[in-house]
Amino acid sequence: MAGNYTLTIVKPDAFGANKAGKIIALLEDKGFSIVAARAMRMSKEQAGAFYEVHAARPFYGELVEFMTSGACMPIILRRDNAVSALRDAIGATDPAEAAEGTVRKLYAESKGRNAIHASDSDENAAREARFFFAECEWVK
Ligand code: CMP
Repeated sequence: MAGNYTLTIVKPDAFGANKAGKIIALLEDKGFSIVAARAMRMSKEQAGAFYEVHAARPFYGELVEFMTSGACMPIILRRDNAVSALRDAIGATDPAEAAEGTVRKLYAESKGRNAIHASDSDENAAREARFFFAECEWVK
């Protein structure tokens, strides 16, 4: 059964442009509730570890550079069918391909500077939530 939690990150491009509030409002309108949130600037070590699955990709260095370029906002969200509902709400990785009304259609600039992250499975949601919120009840 699909889980009720997922992890999102308002990335440095959107957070730095003061779009976090609008993005959170959009997600709340789609039925998500915030379980935990923090604003932080990731270190190179943290970003490198978080995106370790992409370490062999040509864009890995650029991704780590971008994710450490400013503050971001990791958020644990709750909703039924959370992982797929969030992926629907944020849209395709490339904003040029994202559907109307999605976060990336509205706020992303490019495949790299794409405003928001979403976990791609229940398993990764739990791992990613633990990465930022080790103290949170759900991830214990
Ligand atoms: P996200 O889903 O958060 O996790 C992997 C990230 O890699 C993805 O968002 C994009 O921001 C980034 N990414 C994917 N493809 C490219 C690309 N071609 N160039 C730069 N960044 C990319």
